[in-house]
Amino acid sequence: MLLFSRRVSRVLAAVSVHSKFATPPGGIKMSTKAHSDSQEATKKLRDAGLLLSRALIGDKWCEAFDGRTITVSNPATGEFLADVPFMGRKETELAITVANEAFPVWSQKTTAERSKLLRNWFDLLIEHKEELGRLMTLEQGKPLKEAIGEIVYAAGFVELYAEEAKRIYGEIIPAATHDKRLIVLRQPVGVVGAITPWNFPLAMITRKVAPALAAGCTIIVKPSEFTPLSAVAAAKLALQAGIPPGVLNIVIGDAPQIGGALLESTKVRKITFTGSTQVGKKLMEGSAATVKKVSLELGGNAPCIIFDDANIEVAVRGALAAKYRNSGQTCVCINRILVQDGIYEEFAKAFAQAVSGLHVGNGLEEGVTQGPLINPAAVAKVVSHVEDAVAKGARVLVGGKTHSLGRTFYEPTVLADTTPDMKIFCEEVFGPVAPLFRFKDEKEAVRLANDTHFGLASYVFTENISRAWRVAEALEYGMVGLNEGLISTEVAPFGGVKQSGLGREGSKYGLDEYLEMKYVCFGNMASS
Ligand code: SIN
Repeated sequence: MLLFSRRVSRVLAAVSVHSKFATPPGGIKMSTKAHSDSQEATKKLRDAGLLLSRALIGDKWCEAFDGRTITVSNPATGEFLADVPFMGRKETELAITVANEAFPVWSQKTTAERSKLLRNWFDLLIEHKEELGRLMTLEQGKPLKEAIGEIVYAAGFVELYAEEAKRIYGEIIPAATHDKRLIVLRQPVGVVGAITPWNFPLAMITRKVAPALAAGCTIIVKPSEFTPLSAVAAAKLALQAGIPPGVLNIVIGDAPQIGGALLESTKVRKITFTGSTQVGKKLMEGSAATVKKVSLELGGNAPCIIFDDANIEVAVRGALAAKYRNSGQTCVCINRILVQDGIYEEFAKAFAQAVSGLHVGNGLEEGVTQGPLINPAAVAKVVSHVEDAVAKGARVLVGGKTHSLGRTFYEPTVLADTTPDMKIFCEEVFGPVAPLFRFKDEKEAVRLANDTHFGLASYVFTENISRAWRVAEALEYGMVGLNEGLISTEVAPFGGVKQSGLGREGSKYGLDEYLEMKYVCFGNMASS
């Protein structure tokens, strides 16, 4: 266990409500009219001690200094899940101090020690994947099967970086003169500030925390205030796994205040963010004053090109997966389907038929494949995109309106005859709407696909191998799925070009984002 300075211990004692491993009291008040599935799910979570409603600073489960809270509710039913602390600058400054005090001890552990603790964390995440999946469905809405899939994906980053921790190699560089020896050490960046989104409440956290911890960094995570419960549950398991207090801290609340404190601190040496391009630019700008290392995983506007020579069945399956995963709420979701003239009608018919088979509902219900959107504002954005497209001549093949389940639900939708003058061509819809654009030849397809400021994921369906190579090389994107709609995996480098971001997450390359190179030159080494 790390020892914090006396001042920090005093402040922590004053704000905390519970110590390590204890379940924080209060906060979880289920509404009386809660759906029975949700009640059963929350009971199981409570029994497992994974329904926590406090932030974590050091080894203390904390409330906001001024007692302010924010309510987390189930997007499918609107029911109350928890009141969590609404923290700001002061709590973040405390978390930074704690993370900074934990840094020397954590970074000086051997890589084998850090690897072992990460591995313990991975084991606990997998052991609790069912409960964590239920928690995620409750707070985020995605279908239970998809949520459990995300827990496994999230745990995969922890397992990968438990292994990669052992391979943080240095280098010896041949010197140009006999009297010198040149070496390169790779050392942790220092304290990291991570800001994560609501669409993947756990995977976007472990994708940052696991490489940071493997490298020897300590970290303060600000999860989305819409989905903080998965983050705190996972943090509890991290403590249980033996990761020392102060190494992983969770601060929940006011994004500008928390972000501001992270940016202004000279102790925070790295900012990592997943979210909108607009916020990413602000964080990049804010990092300039203290010249922090920055990695950004930002918005996308993914094209999916379907050529005449595609296998239609493969293309329909791939496009369906890439468009409707998480109800269209991922940065790598297809935003524009570009279909070649020759198969346009055939593809449109087959795709619309497949989409009409999707099952919308509460993610806890058996057989549901499409959950709600995160909130009514997300639905309003989808409505405005569809209205704009229809007003400019798009044809609705399936869906096209809010779902009868109400509030946060939108019907899985396919629009035909969409054109580049529509909003949906240039802005991420972040919902279950697939617009089908038409193109004549390969040149036009590549031009349309690249006609955007974004460059995250792209997809191509063709049976022609030389075309596949050519187009993959010509696409200005960080990732290309060839005859494949599901490209995300912890073992490959995930990230974008242009205004979709900086740096890569996952794979061996994801570790570099948390390491600095130090060049050491030994002089006067010639024999005496
Ligand atoms: C994202 O939407 O930011 C990430 C999606 C993924 O990892 O597949």
